[in-house]
Amino acid sequence: MKAIIINKYGATSELVMANINRPQPGRGQVLIKTKAISINPIDYKTRQGSGIAFLLKDKFPKILGWDVAGIVDVVGLGVTNFSKGDCVFGMLRFPDESACYAEYVVADVNEIAAVPSDISMIEAAATTLAALTALQALTQMKVQPGRTILIQAAAGGVGHFAVQLAKLYRLRIIATGSKNNRDYVMSLGADHYIDYQDTNAFSNIVDGSIDYVIDGIAGKVGADTIKLVSHDGIICILPVEHAEPVLEKAEMLGIKVILFRVTPSSSDMLTLATYLARKQLIPKTEHTFDFSDTAIQHAHKIIEKGHISGKIVITI
Ligand SMILES: NC(=O)c1ccc[n+]([C@@H]2O[C@H](COP(=O)([O-])OP(=O)(O)OC[C@H]3O[C@@H](n4cnc5c(N)ncnc54)[C@H](OP(=O)(O)O)[C@@H]3O)[C@@H](O)[C@H]2O)c1
Repeated sequence: MKAIIINKYGATSELVMANINRPQPGRGQVLIKTKAISINPIDYKTRQGSGIAFLLKDKFPKILGWDVAGIVDVVGLGVTNFSKGDCVFGMLRFPDESACYAEYVVADVNEIAAVPSDISMIEAAATTLAALTALQALTQMKVQPGRTILIQAAAGGVGHFAVQLAKLYRLRIIATGSKNNRDYVMSLGADHYIDYQDTNAFSNIVDGSIDYVIDGIAGKVGADTIKLVSHDGIICILPVEHAEPVLEKAEMLGIKVILFRVTPSSSDMLTLATYLARKQLIPKTEHTFDFSDTAIQHAHKIIEKGHISGKIVITI
């Protein structure tokens, strides 16, 4: 089968097409014929040798990618809840190597759910790692209706799901992004939009008035907004490699911080499938590319810039 591999960590040019053996599903697993995959910032970070590279075995070639939507091709021993031909999606094995940049991928059944009948493979692939992150971050903070949440990077892969879910959970939403994304994020249900390029942007927000933060930026950006968070508030940091400045200030103020890591989960995938089917969650795919090394190199270059609105999906 065809796969996009890397033979060492490095630049986008390390992503190359190769022919490799098709994997075989073991007990409790299925082999998925891949139809679409999505690209996340963790892909480029790991390609560079940062991100979660330190957790992976030092063995090459590696196949990146954790998000898949496709069709069950082979059912492993002991699998009763999926059959050949089922459309499924999920985030696989994170933070271990998952190998989704490939024509066939093995998945544990406890990581996937059925794709709702009127949802496309592109929409399904988009609603995986980023959507799980938004869902699990809100769950871990035990958000309560009527409280206020700050969503930093609200138009991004995680952010656009987080705004929609926070709306569904009846939170008051303050969202950040550039002015280009204001109309889109407000259309998702944000109550207030902050253009991070406007130096006075946070002046309308009362100190201590925010109960929860999903922080997709962290670093100085996150640290500068801590005074807005209430003393019993919770900050969920996604780019944990930039957590330090937030942690330092939060500790001084006694504010709780979660250093978040997304976890594969079929029950959470089922929840996302339900929201997709009910149109309570609408994924945005800003770019769709074909499955080639040049296309995936291009996708990595785009996502590295940090200004994507929604997701990038590769179709296979
Ligand atoms: N720990 C975990 O398990 C976990 C899980 C998922 C994601 N993450 C991390 O969380 C981060 C966000 O992920 P993602 O997939 O949402 O990334 P993404 O899709 O690349 O986010 C891009 C968005 O960031 C916005 N942005 C850039 N600079 C900003 C700023 N200063 N203030 C507010 N918004 C800004 C951009 O808005 P404009 O275009 O308007 O500038 C863009 O919409 C990444 O670092 C990712 O690796 C961690």
